[in-house]
Amino acid sequence: MRMLGIETSCDETAAAVVVETDDPARPWAVRSNVVASQVAIHREWGGVVPELASRQHIRDICGVVERAIGDAGVTLLEVDAVAVTQGPGLVGSLLVGVAFAKSLAAALDRPLVPVHHLAGHIESLVLEHGPLPLPAVVLVVSGGHTTLYLVGEPGRYEVLGRTRDDAAGEAYDKVAKLLGLGYPGGPIIDRLAREGNDRAVALPSTRMTHADRNAPGLPGHRDFSFSGLKTAVLRHVKTRPQPPSPQEVGDICASFQRVVVEALLDRVFDAAEAVGARSVGIGGGVSANSRLRADAEARGVRVGLPVFVPPLSLSTDNAAMIAAAGLRRLRAGVRAGWDLNAEASLSE
Ligand code: KG4
Ligand code: ZN
Repeated sequence: MRMLGIETSCDETAAAVVVETDDPARPWAVRSNVVASQVAIHREWGGVVPELASRQHIRDICGVVERAIGDAGVTLLEVDAVAVTQGPGLVGSLLVGVAFAKSLAAALDRPLVPVHHLAGHIESLVLEHGPLPLPAVVLVVSGGHTTLYLVGEPGRYEVLGRTRDDAAGEAYDKVAKLLGLGYPGGPIIDRLAREGNDRAVALPSTRMTHADRNAPGLPGHRDFSFSGLKTAVLRHVKTRPQPPSPQEVGDICASFQRVVVEALLDRVFDAAEAVGARSVGIGGGVSANSRLRADAEARGVRVGLPVFVPPLSLSTDNAAMIAAAGLRRLRAGVRAGWDLNAEASLSE
């Protein structure tokens, strides 16, 4: 079975071919994985401009799909099914992928499979490492999402917690912007933090105190909040007599990053203990963060839990993860009708 995946939920136009293998330890293999990033376009504006994003998807989608087919060494007629991100995301961006995938599947007379973007991030872990020991606690952490899942059985994702305001990646991007560091902020702060003292600036870490939004049956508070932290950085910078020196910028980045990583991992490992998880996974753009990876690994060793993260090529938005999640759904009997529509706020 050869699956063509298409992903256009935000500012990356992506297509990939993923095939099933006969090896249960590695059920899927990537044949091609093409991403046209729009970062250079949005950088000028300090963030993603939805209208520019959808227009660029229209320009890029045909070439990106052609390249994915070519790189996989197949022809369009050898594609067995098409998977596409249905949501959540920017509606204008999603529509380009959904319309393209529908047309292609209809023209080829192949099944069309709708995929939840966050299911793609979760399945990127299986694509890379094979089936995770279940139950697994998986954190999807990106520019648009910070959501904690329990994966009790393959393909079943139960939300344990989510951000109540900014996503962690969004906080990285906003803090980088207020420090005048450029876009996207995550990789820049990650790099500058290495030169800074992570205890130099006292920043608050948010604890959730309202029990109403907790997942039923689970003790503790598993939601996230990052907008107060961002405001604390802003206040720290604004109340200084002069702009921070390069050393001070490094200290701010390191201190901010320590608080974010602790907030993420405290909840991940808390939840893992509460549900008796046999493994932990972290996916999404922020899983590229060097401190998050290192600290997660160290905590996993301490409590005897394997920790899985995707390689960089599968951590930021890509279509290989969508094709993989699409293969799982197709095998579960899921098919979209020709009335499939993009769902900007498809629930987590
Ligand atoms: O998954 P992704 O490509 O797109 C969304 O679905 O949002 O994630 C992009 C986000 C951006 O906010 C970016 O700043 C962040 O991931 N990011 C990082 C790093 N690399 C990318 N954040 C922290 N450290 C990094 N090394
Ligand atoms: Zn994403």
